Amino acid sequence: MNTSAPNLSAFWMPFTANRYFKRHPTLVRGAEGAYFTLSDGRRVFDCLSGLWCTPLGHGRREIVAAVREQVGELDFAPTFQVGHPKVFELAARIAGWAPEGLDRVFFTNSGSEAVDSALKIALAYHQARGEAGRVRIIGRERAYHGVGIGGISAGGIAANRRAFGALSAPFVDHLPHTYDPGQMRFSRGQPTWGAHLADALERLVALHDASTIAAVIVEPMQGSTGVIVPPVGYLERLREICTRHGILLIFDEVITGFGRLGANFAAQRLGVTPDIIVFAKAVTNGVIPMGGTVVRRSIYDAMMRGPEQTIELFHGYTYSGHPVACAAGLATLDALEKDDLVARSAKLSKVLEDGVHSLQGEPHVIDIRNIGLAAAVELGAREGQPGARAREAFERGVEAGLLLRFTADTIAVAPPFISSEEEIRNMIETLRGVLRGIA
Ligand SMILES: Cc1ncc(COP(=O)(O)O)c(C=O)c1O
Repeated sequence: MNTSAPNLSAFWMPFTANRYFKRHPTLVRGAEGAYFTLSDGRRVFDCLSGLWCTPLGHGRREIVAAVREQVGELDFAPTFQVGHPKVFELAARIAGWAPEGLDRVFFTNSGSEAVDSALKIALAYHQARGEAGRVRIIGRERAYHGVGIGGISAGGIAANRRAFGALSAPFVDHLPHTYDPGQMRFSRGQPTWGAHLADALERLVALHDASTIAAVIVEPMQGSTGVIVPPVGYLERLREICTRHGILLIFDEVITGFGRLGANFAAQRLGVTPDIIVFAKAVTNGVIPMGGTVVRRSIYDAMMRGPEQTIELFHGYTYSGHPVACAAGLATLDALEKDDLVARSAKLSKVLEDGVHSLQGEPHVIDIRNIGLAAAVELGAREGQPGARAREAFERGVEAGLLLRFTADTIAVAPPFISSEEEIRNMIETLRGVLRGIA
C-alpha cells in the first residue's frame, strides 16, 4: 500500500511482526462510526471494534464532549488518600451493571493490570481471613489474561510465556482448554459437549489440596485465542467446585464485559456468577485506557479490618480512576443505556451467527465458532507456514474494505454494536470473496 508514511523505525510495535509491518505498513489516519480511514483515504469496516474495545464505534459525540470538558475541568487528581466525584459515580454505575452481590470496584488502566489486581485481591482476601496458605492460582490452557506477570502465568498461550518463563509466578497450574474440534466443529453458540472438562479442577484440588488454592481465573469466552465458547454446563460446574472448596472464581471479562455477549456481562448471559469480574476495553469505548475489577462485597468487607486508619490493600496505580477515563466511562455507559445497545448487540448476534456459519464450505474453512456478537473462522494452515493464510486474508481484506483481525490461522470478528444488519451481512459477503481469492 502507498502510505506517505512517517519514519517507522523508532516505534517497537506490540504483538506485531515489526520487520514485516515496516515493509508493508497499514496506517490508519482517522475513524468515524464503524469505519477506519486509511492513510490513502480508503475506508475499511472495523470488523473487531478496534481490539474488541469500541462497541459504540468511533468519534461518538457524547464521549468526545465528556472527555473535552473533563480535561478542562479536572485533568488529573490522585485517588490515593484523595477522591474526585466521578470515580465514585462510575464505580456505582459499574456495580449496577454487574451481577447482584458484586458491587465494589477497583480501577486500573488496562486489562492486564486488572487481571493482576484481581489475583492480588484474591490472595490478600484469603490472607485477611487467616488462610494465608491459599496462594495457588489455577488458570487454563489457551487463556489470554494480558501481559503482566500474573496474567502470563495464569494465561495459557504458549508463545506469550515462552521467553519469560523465569519470571512466571510460582504456584500456578492450568485446567485443560475446552476446544475439541472433533466434538464441536461448526457449533452454533455453546457446544453441547465438554461440561465434564471442568472436572479437571477436582483433580487439581486433589493434587494441590484446596487449602493451597486461592482462585480459578477463566475467560467465560476465550477471545484472543480464537473465540472458544464454553460448553453448556462447564462454567456451572467450575462454579460449583470452587464454591465447595472455598476457592474464588474470577471471570476475566475484558472482552465480554459491557454487552459483547448480548447481556451486561457474560456472567449474566451464561447464568454463572463469579466472585470477581475483570473488565477493561469497552468500559470507556476504548477512548481513554481504563480497566478494573468488580468484587463481591463480602470479599471487600473481609478486607476492611484493623484500626480505621489502616490501609487495607497495599496496591494501586497513579492513574487508578483517572478523571478523564471516568468521564469517558460515564459517557459510554450513558450511551449504551440510552440507545439500548446491549439489546441491539443481542439482536445483531443472530445476524452474525447466520452469516458467519454460511461460510461453512468456503475454501480453507475448517471451523466456525460464535457466541454473542463475536465469531471466529478458522482456516487450515498452509503446509509449514502457520499463520500465512490468515495473513493473506487480512491483506486482501484491507484491499476489499475490511479491517480483520487474525491470530495464527483464525480470523475473529466482533463488529461494533452500532453496526447495521446490512453492514454485518456485507462484512460476511466480503469475507467470503476474500476466502475465495486466497491460495
Ligand atoms: C481476556 C483478556 N484479558 C486481559 C487482556 C489484557 O488487556 P490489556 O491489553 O488492556 O492489558 C485482554 C486483551 O485483549 C483480554 O482479552
